[in-house]
Amino acid sequence: MSPMKPCKPSTASGKLAVLTPGLGAVSTTFMAGVMMCRRGVSEPLGSLTQLGTIRLGKRSEGRSPKIHELVPLARLEDLCFGAWDIFEDDAYQSAKHAEVLTPEHLALVKDELEKVEPMPAVFSADYVKRLDGKHVKNGNSKMDLARALEDDIARFIKSSGAARGVMVWCGSTEVYLQQGDVHSSLAKFEKGLAANDPGIAPSMIYAYAALRSGLPFANGAPNLTVDIPALQELAKERHLPIAGKDFKTGQTLMKTVIAPALKARMLGLRGWFSTNILGNRDGEVLDDPESFKSKEVSKLGVLEYILQPHLYPKLYGKLFHKVRIEYYPPRGDQKEGWDNLDLIGWLGYPMQMKIDFLCRDSILAAPIVLDLALFMDLAARAKMSGIQEWLSFYFKSPMTAPSLYPEHDLFIQQMKLKNTLRHIAGEELITHLGLDYYE
Ligand SMILES: NC(=O)c1ccc[n+]([C@@H]2O[C@H](COP(=O)([O-])OP(=O)(O)OC[C@H]3O[C@@H](n4cnc5c(N)ncnc54)[C@H](O)[C@@H]3O)[C@@H](O)[C@H]2O)c1
Repeated sequence: MSPMKPCKPSTASGKLAVLTPGLGAVSTTFMAGVMMCRRGVSEPLGSLTQLGTIRLGKRSEGRSPKIHELVPLARLEDLCFGAWDIFEDDAYQSAKHAEVLTPEHLALVKDELEKVEPMPAVFSADYVKRLDGKHVKNGNSKMDLARALEDDIARFIKSSGAARGVMVWCGSTEVYLQQGDVHSSLAKFEKGLAANDPGIAPSMIYAYAALRSGLPFANGAPNLTVDIPALQELAKERHLPIAGKDFKTGQTLMKTVIAPALKARMLGLRGWFSTNILGNRDGEVLDDPESFKSKEVSKLGVLEYILQPHLYPKLYGKLFHKVRIEYYPPRGDQKEGWDNLDLIGWLGYPMQMKIDFLCRDSILAAPIVLDLALFMDLAARAKMSGIQEWLSFYFKSPMTAPSLYPEHDLFIQQMKLKNTLRHIAGEELITHLGLDYYE
């Protein structure tokens, strides 16, 4: 099938299993939120799939349906949840530990959360140095572990009665890995699984098992995971969508709004210093320099691509960009992200901008997990396979075809996402040319 013609997606009938490696702050906030919303005790703020509208046709037509009215998405009522974690805590206990939601909110959905019990994880402290849990699988080879995950998936789908599934990585950030020979083809990757190649991280084993089981895979962390030819080959072979990486939630979300604005007005930048304090388990993991390196690379790429210093050397050729993350337990999940920008305007006069975003990490991430689960399921039903660049909107470090640079500007990403939805629905794309209104 031509890539210009997606299939009309099949209807979203039956239950959708959302499986998350990692049952920590983000995944439990996502699950508890869906449970609260479907009981009618809260609203899904922050979720485009639940609240967003999409303009169709000309501005004069007044057609702006909800996104979920345009394309067939699974409903919140249809979702069921499964997870893996290295700790035995069920979703209620884990959410209590994470202290994102209040005890009063958790009490409302305690009965449902308690039923989400993590399956034993595929884990090695070689890839996440600050954690050590006992709820893990044993196997002679990484291939054995992949097969055990495939069994878990099959069992979960059967016992939950789900018609389809998706996997969203909500596990910890792994140490920085670079692409190597073992990642270069599916055949080499499978040999590597059998030979316990150290280049294969646990997150890759989950992704491999998901794709082999017919599940789309989205990567919420900056890990290499599906950003390798081997797993892209598997996704294509199985006609499944993949997407990544690293949820775009707080500081980077703002960066991809402010930087395009400055560039649009040809304002220069000499420096951009970003620092964060956070005290959740994610912060503890990122306190390890090797996991921080994965996050740092993911966060740093954004400005280089948006500002294009090779095209604008006078404006951005001397930019100094630094990103820090400090583990500071008193703050828990309530991250504070500071940015200092040193700008230059007309005739080279300096200016400064300070941003202080007092955000909540998992409150920003949870609706992204929901939207990704629903859109990845839609993509699978529309037979869209391989990298889903239209979902760049949700990622700090969007995956693209090897010959392309990633698009980071939030509003270009949004336009791409909405035009892809129009395309899936067989509606005309919107170019914003608009000359015909004046003819
Ligand atoms: N919250 C945000 O704003 C945000 C933004 C971007 C990315 N992320 C990423 O999302 C991920 C989850 O964040 P979080 O705040 O929920 O962290 P968290 O530490 O609360 O939860 C992660 C969970 O994953 C588990 N885990 C680690 N390795 C595992 C494995 N191999 N298999 C199964 N479970 C495993 C940990 O035990 C932990 O319970 C992190 O990688 C984080 O960097 C979060």
